[in-house]
Amino acid sequence: MPRYPDHRYAACAIALTILVSPVAEAQTQRIRLDEWRFQQGDPAGNTVDLRYDVRPVVERSADGKVADAMPDAAVVVDAANQRVLKPWILPSANAFIADPAKRHVRPAGDPGSDVPYVRATFDDAAWQRVRLPHDWAIAGPFLKDGPYGGMGRLRTWGPAWYRRTIDIAAADRGKSVFLDVEGAMAYATVWLNGHLVGGWPYGYNSWRLDLTPYVVPGQRNQLSIRLDNPPESARWYPGAGLYRDVWLVKTRPVHVAQWGSVVRTPSVSKEAAEVTLALSVDNDGTTPATVEVTSDLYALDANGARTGKAVARIAPVRQTVAAKATARFDGRTTIAHPRLWGPPPTQAPNRYVAVSQVRRNGRLVDSYETRFGVRDIRFEGARGVLVNGEAVTLNGVNNHHDLGAIGAAFNMRAAERQLEILREMGVNAIRLSHNPPAPGLLELTDRMGFLVIDEVFDSWERKKTPLDFHLIFPDWHEADLRAMLRRDRNHPSIMLWSVGNEVGEQYTGEEGAKIARELVSIVRQEDTRPTTTAMNYAKPDMPLPAEVDVININYQGGGIRTLPGQYPGFRAKFPTKVLFESESASALSSRGEYLFPVSGSVSGPVRPGSGGDPVTHQVSAYELHAADFGSTPDREWSAIDQNPGVAGEFVWTGFDYLGEPTPYYTSRSSYSGIVDLAGFPKDRYWLYQARWRPTLKFAHILPHWSWPGREGQVTPVQVFSSADEAELFVNGVSQGRVKRAPYAYRFRWDFVTYQPGEVKVVTWKNGQPWASETVATTGAATALKASVDRNRITADGRDLAFVTLDVVDAAQRVAPAAKPPVRFRVEGPGVLVATDNGDPTDLTAFPSAVRHAFNGKALAIVRADEGARGPITLIAEADGLVPARVVITPVPPG
Ligand code: GAL
Repeated sequence: MPRYPDHRYAACAIALTILVSPVAEAQTQRIRLDEWRFQQGDPAGNTVDLRYDVRPVVERSADGKVADAMPDAAVVVDAANQRVLKPWILPSANAFIADPAKRHVRPAGDPGSDVPYVRATFDDAAWQRVRLPHDWAIAGPFLKDGPYGGMGRLRTWGPAWYRRTIDIAAADRGKSVFLDVEGAMAYATVWLNGHLVGGWPYGYNSWRLDLTPYVVPGQRNQLSIRLDNPPESARWYPGAGLYRDVWLVKTRPVHVAQWGSVVRTPSVSKEAAEVTLALSVDNDGTTPATVEVTSDLYALDANGARTGKAVARIAPVRQTVAAKATARFDGRTTIAHPRLWGPPPTQAPNRYVAVSQVRRNGRLVDSYETRFGVRDIRFEGARGVLVNGEAVTLNGVNNHHDLGAIGAAFNMRAAERQLEILREMGVNAIRLSHNPPAPGLLELTDRMGFLVIDEVFDSWERKKTPLDFHLIFPDWHEADLRAMLRRDRNHPSIMLWSVGNEVGEQYTGEEGAKIARELVSIVRQEDTRPTTTAMNYAKPDMPLPAEVDVININYQGGGIRTLPGQYPGFRAKFPTKVLFESESASALSSRGEYLFPVSGSVSGPVRPGSGGDPVTHQVSAYELHAADFGSTPDREWSAIDQNPGVAGEFVWTGFDYLGEPTPYYTSRSSYSGIVDLAGFPKDRYWLYQARWRPTLKFAHILPHWSWPGREGQVTPVQVFSSADEAELFVNGVSQGRVKRAPYAYRFRWDFVTYQPGEVKVVTWKNGQPWASETVATTGAATALKASVDRNRITADGRDLAFVTLDVVDAAQRVAPAAKPPVRFRVEGPGVLVATDNGDPTDLTAFPSAVRHAFNGKALAIVRADEGARGPITLIAEADGLVPARVVITPVPPG
């Protein structure tokens, strides 16, 4: 029974907080549904039309289309008289549609009820047993031919089914029962006991269906989910399946609504923070209920655990909730001397939790936890972003949702590892390109203290690929946007809502601006934080930028191709709006692949023989090349440094991701990451670290110095460091002492002649010795060496150990060009989940136990069995090399 909580809260200062997590207590049960049976394809001989809607015919693949190509108008499809499922699915959006007249009415009929896969009598014993989160496409094999590079050369499309039973006890009679899906890729349709319940097309959003009308207490209930990913639906790898957690939620008739709390901190100072909490309570029953809500606020520790006694209490609020209705309980309190949330290293991500108790006639019927942070974020024109009064330069990166070799299946440890690697580089902000993330990722950004741009869409009405989100934008944009906002608005890490990325409506003048206006107004109804949209084409005088609160430009700051940089124009036109680059660089490289000759310019496109190898499809690691519309970091920084009043940047991208392998669409993964797909830093990592952590004393030399056959040839050497002066020596002979020129960000010696031996750099900063570094020619590879990121992991069937495998010489130095095939195996109570090496061209399936090292390195990902006891040993072997082993100890959860 959908109800429509009132979300029109008074606008207040951009401040606040949170993660909403209802607790599993006696009143409300949240049961994670991990185990399922899985099968691809519809039943043989199926004659029922199970499509969500009629899709346009794909006449031309968009594979390899340059990322900044102008999006096209949608193709008009005549779907009249087609009996598709859309009319039964649309009502699932009703709780997120503000205008009652626009809400959908479910038609009569129960489509699909005869399809064997939805029936309890169907025997699915032959189906694959799977555990969530599950990405059915990641295992491959990679599609070696055909136009599939953009989506990662993995087959993600076609129908797929998940089935399981759920236990609904006789004692559950009278309860409300919900299915909460954190993400299903994509076009989900759900049946319970043979009845179509509803669904949700957008694969990145989280959604709830009310199972109550279809539940039969006292028996096992048959749940079936059909997904139907379209081909040509994305510009990157979307993943496939129930790739995030799925929950069964049982509540009493009076319970906290879905995403039913909103915490705000309208005034924040060192002395006190005012906290408001609005809790929406549903009454699913048939009689009015007298309800009382109380909330206690506690501090959380760094791991998110509650500490000590309550720091504040919200006085009880009591009111009657009418039958089949929702009421909002508004409370407020003050936290004295609050510990503020802010990004390290200058601030700390302190958090609190509000624990709310809902009583009906004095009896506890629900309790609900809302995690939040107390902070004040302001966007002040050329002063930029102020967090608790401190101007914070945005040292940000973009990240897509895949986690490399484990694909889209969300995993807390894999995501945390990515964030740790980025944090070490100096990142303080993340843009979630271009879709709502797994809820767990926002728990991590809250806990670790990253500032976040939460972005909802990559396209509006105009299309980038033939079957992308534009197909459903007209019907779903309001529901999808409100769902993201209501799910995410309590997170302290979120500073900004992005309503779209490089949308085609940049090109449609006032018509496009009108859509932006509608989306922005939806955001303002749901939250107080500002809005933005990422623009790679719109210019200051076009209608679109005027619609958003913060100006985000992609690549235009440094200047796209021959167009001049756009910072001055935007700064002048919008003096009160904060301006920054939501996508910068798109520099391209393959880790450890140094190609010759080396360009003398500091930024250029990849061309055969200039940055790119058309045979191997590798891009040079000298870090001097970018996408045709992009720039190297050096060119970006030169523009930022010459334009005061730019609040920072979000690099495209932090990590390589699956798909979009510009410039070689035969590959599986992108070249734009600062870190490769396996999590190994490319040289660029130290270029960013030198700028973003300028007090860190280091000097990073590239390339490696092991070039048999290059003796006597020009082999340029570069050094990345925050020093301002450096002298290079090859085998003790100085190659010159150089000072860093204004707007130059690297040291380079372009005419060094290679001789085996040793390259050494000595650096100074402000005339004082800073750091020095030596790189030596290595000997032949003799052994493998394994090291693990954590040697104790939780035996919960989810936690992962990431093992780095180095190919080393007799002196234990990494052999920088070694590519031997390595055989991995696990002994003891664990499994080898996947292997990788960061090579974008490697089309060996991720689960393979044999993986070539790529330039001296490979990665193995190991999971402990659930309940594992005793050591897990990962063994790595390669012909002619001393094998390596590493021991991982499983520890019980809790
Ligand atoms: C941008 C786009 C990104 C990605 C990037 C590649 O134009 O917004 O999604 O395609 O280019 O460099």
